Order: sequence, then structure tokens, then C-alpha cells
Amino acid sequence: MLKEKMLNALNEQINAEQYSAMLYLAMSAYFNDKGLPGFANWMYVQYQEEISHANKFFSYVVERGEKVEIGAIKQVPTNWEGIIDVYEATLEHEQMVTGLINRLMDIAVAESDHAVQSFLRWFVDEQVEEEANVQEILDTLKLIDGQGNGIFLLDREMRQRVFVDSTLAAG
Ligand code: FEO
Repeated sequence: MLKEKMLNALNEQINAEQYSAMLYLAMSAYFNDKGLPGFANWMYVQYQEEISHANKFFSYVVERGEKVEIGAIKQVPTNWEGIIDVYEATLEHEQMVTGLINRLMDIAVAESDHAVQSFLRWFVDEQVEEEANVQEILDTLKLIDGQGNGIFLLDREMRQRVFVDSTLAAG
């Protein structure tokens, strides 16, 4: 059993994670269209990660004996001004998600829900990793000015990324 405010916030987070998934799927489509299959692959893996995040929240709400409310997902942007713009938008989005996770934790603390606090710790750590990964790519992109041979090489590297469902290992 969850307190109403906590349940609502968790349901909102399912929607936010699904929005994140659609955002990265749109970015993957953008990169495919620009002839950058490696970057498209990286974003597709990102999309899969976000689906796994949404599902982790879904399973948790069910496990606590509550009803998941699935809401409409807002339209995501579908166009950007280039690779750097995409990764700047990604970093900004992940920073916003970190804020949402922190807000959830604040509610769990205020409600004295220790179980939710324990559950959320995985996401607190995950957000540190998410932001660091994106920041690293953004730094590299800025170094090569988002163009030239460097992009070709980076695109090849991005092709190597594969989806590993880290939500499963966390239990
Ligand atoms: Fe689910 Fe990228 O945060």
C-alpha cells in the first residue's frame, strides 16, 4: 500500500520514463535520416533503457499492490540542429529526469516510506551514470566540433553499443 501522493508521483514517473523513451527513439530516427547509423544505434539503446526504467517503476507499483495509471505521452521533438544540439538536449533532459527522481525521493522521505527510498536508490545511481555518459559524448563532440573525420570514427564506435537490461541485475 502506498500513500496517494507517492502513488501519483510514481505513476507520473512511469509516464516521464515513457516520454524519455519516445524522445530517444525520435533522436534515433533523426540520426538514421542523417546517415549516422552508429549514433542512431546509440539512441535506440537509450530508448530501450528508458523502456526498462518505465517497466521497473511499473513492476514496483504492481508489487506494492497498487494500480498503475497509463497516461498519454506528450509529443516529443523530432528535429534538431545537428549532433551537438541532440546531445545538449539529451544532457538537459537527463538533468531534468534527475530532478524528478530527487523529487520522488523527497516525497518518499516526507512520507516515511523507507521501501520506496530503497527502491529509488537504484535510480539515483543510474542518473549519475546517465549524465556522465552523455557529458562524455558531448565533450568529445565539442572537441571535434561536431564534424569531419572525427564524426565518422565516433559513429563507428557508437555502433558497438548494445542494450543490457541493468534493471534485472538490480533485482
Ligand atoms: Fe530513465 Fe534516462 O532516465
